[in-house]
Amino acid sequence: MDVLVVGGTGFIGQYLCRELDDRGHEVTALARNPHDADLPTGVTRKEGDVTDYDSIEGAFEGQDAVVFLPALSPLFKPDSGNEMHEVVHLGGTENSVRAAEEHGVDRFLQMSALGADRNAATHYLRAKGKAEEVVEDSDLDWVIFRPSIVFGDGDEFAYFTKRLKQIFAPGVPLYPLPGGGGKAHFQLIWVEDFVPMLADALEGDEHVGQIYEVGGPETLSLKEATELVFEAEGKSITIVPLPMPLAKIGLPVLGALGFPMGSDQYEGLDFDNTPRENDVGAFGVDPNAMRTYGDYLGVE
Ligand SMILES: NC(=O)c1ccc[n+]([C@@H]2O[C@H](COP(=O)([O-])OP(=O)(O)OC[C@H]3O[C@@H](n4cnc5c(N)ncnc54)[C@H](OP(=O)(O)O)[C@@H]3O)[C@@H](O)[C@H]2O)c1
Repeated sequence: MDVLVVGGTGFIGQYLCRELDDRGHEVTALARNPHDADLPTGVTRKEGDVTDYDSIEGAFEGQDAVVFLPALSPLFKPDSGNEMHEVVHLGGTENSVRAAEEHGVDRFLQMSALGADRNAATHYLRAKGKAEEVVEDSDLDWVIFRPSIVFGDGDEFAYFTKRLKQIFAPGVPLYPLPGGGGKAHFQLIWVEDFVPMLADALEGDEHVGQIYEVGGPETLSLKEATELVFEAEGKSITIVPLPMPLAKIGLPVLGALGFPMGSDQYEGLDFDNTPRENDVGAFGVDPNAMRTYGDYLGVE
């Protein structure tokens, strides 16, 4: 199969391109700056910006399947960039769906997120929800994935967690967390457990028209996941609740320190990020056989 992975140079995209290449597919990775990414030699690189239809349209020619991954990071964009969620997630999806329809692509896999809904609490999730609607209303054979936080080599979660500590509480064993001290729950999923499901979804007709909510084998609070990150470094920390209004006051400070973070991101830490039902069984995967975050970090 010829597969175009739009956003194929990002964290999930690089693993997916490798998986598809290993399975013998002809893979093309499209991104704004595709040249430095660590991709197998067999993967073709194409340059394009999903917000500019003319820059991406040609890459869809001759493709059997398309995967749409581009995103603004939910963690690293300031308030001033909130309208960009619509531009990239929604506009980028509209352009990609249009190009896929134009070129008779058979299968379209959309990467969404848990809680995606046009009425959701954050700009990120509202734009993701509207993008899902565009895909569902298309003439394409689509599959939608809503994963919890994905971890693995090259992820942002551990980096983000340690960086915030350096900024907010350097040199002391305290860690201030919003959301009542990190009460929101996540079901972190290992990227190497996740990408084979994406590849299966492209290959198997039984997945067409499905929305899959997926997570890893255990539910962790943000507090527990944060503690694991430091435990892996042999450090013990005490989590202290950071009231949301206080956290918002700190946002400009973070921005000034070169760590732009907006209220959209903080509000995202205030509610659970777990699947209603873990749909990994649709891919023959036993949740108990999946990798835990603690095992990955070497603390179990
Ligand atoms: N990682 C997670 O924990 C997680 C959890 C839930 C959902 N998701 C979703 O999964 C998807 C992939 O996540 P990820 O962590 O792999 O993201 P990522 O590492 O930030 O990768 C994003 C990819 O999209 C490309 N891209 C960004 N803007 C683009 C544009 N305007 N035009 C063309 N390409 C563009 C980037 O390359 P360039 O910058 O070179 O263009 C990169 O290849 C996203 O939709 C994200 O919302 C991720």
